[in-house]
Amino acid sequence: MRGHSLLSSHQLTLSSAHILKCRGRIRPMAVAAVAAPAVRHPVQHSMPPEKVEVFKSLEGWAAQSLLPLLKPVEKCWQPQDFLPDSSRPTDEFEEEVRSLRSRTERLPDEYFVVLVGDMITEEALPTYQTMINTLDGVRDETGASSSPWARWTRSWTAEENRHGDLLARYLYLSGRVDMRMVERTVQYLIGAGMDPGTENNPYLGFVYTSFQERATFVSHGNTARLAKDSGDPVLARICGTIAADEKRHETAYAKIVEKLLEVDPVETMLAIEDMMRKKITMPAHLMRDGRDPRLFDHFSAVAQRLGVYTSRDYADIVEFLVGRWDLETLEGLDGPGRRAQEFVCGLPQRIRKLYERAEERVRRVPPCPVRFSWIFDKELMV
Ligand SMILES: [Fe+2]
Ligand SMILES: [Fe+2]
Repeated sequence: MRGHSLLSSHQLTLSSAHILKCRGRIRPMAVAAVAAPAVRHPVQHSMPPEKVEVFKSLEGWAAQSLLPLLKPVEKCWQPQDFLPDSSRPTDEFEEEVRSLRSRTERLPDEYFVVLVGDMITEEALPTYQTMINTLDGVRDETGASSSPWARWTRSWTAEENRHGDLLARYLYLSGRVDMRMVERTVQYLIGAGMDPGTENNPYLGFVYTSFQERATFVSHGNTARLAKDSGDPVLARICGTIAADEKRHETAYAKIVEKLLEVDPVETMLAIEDMMRKKITMPAHLMRDGRDPRLFDHFSAVAQRLGVYTSRDYADIVEFLVGRWDLETLEGLDGPGRRAQEFVCGLPQRIRKLYERAEERVRRVPPCPVRFSWIFDKELMV
């Protein structure tokens, strides 16, 4: 495994990217859980070429153990199941829209900033399919390849595609957000891509996707809870249903890593260490709206403040995966493998300590106002 960088404390606490300047004051932001400098990972094709065979040899396993985790299309929910039915008579449709709008009236602007950010993240799905298809040994070689890895990726994408569609339509009907600015942000983001540091390496790629699917499960679960608390049970059901998909996808990706740990423990353990040292970059880290140069940091700060996705969640996810993959008791490792194991198993505790210190610093500085184009340039305190 190449491209290791040392875990520096600034990656886990406060980098210059996480300092807000406001009215002459410097305000640190506790958004390190979503730290995201611009493109920073130049390493490519870091998997030794002979390891392609590992993935070839796992095709039977993938067909048997992975593909069944997809849901047959006929049994899948569709966005229309949760939305006003435009095929009904106009007055009935209008009534459904009216009741949607009266439910969302009770939700605060902060909530919409977070939901829009989540929706934009989902809408950049072409980028994620591209990212998975950069991975050596598992990419879809033709666009319609019959390899189980390729079939998984296409069907996973098709399932994910419903998430952005549903959230976008609900947000549009709510009237609470500036859809043109939201759509512009989506266009910028898809154009910008992402830089997860996965080096065309499927070991790294599947560690990344395991983490990310759990992160989205946590965050959609929290937007569901907040919608329920604010009196929009339909939106709560929407976010909860999306969260359930993310959970099923997390199960699949974590299963791949579990299998890799079984057949190739050293390479897999080093891959987990590598991704953890780099820190998991959020998929939408390159978002912009053409107005706020710190848009991603500001969105992240609101998500952190509402408790939708926090530094604590980051540490919890690492801890969950350490347990899920039984990393503490993993055997068959060599010297570097054991050092990687020790590093990764001790990581959740170290992250928590660093975050506690960073949060303490944040608490000492008063919040400052930030305008969000997504909510018609209204100001929020972050
Ligand atoms: Fe999703
Ligand atoms: Fe997902």
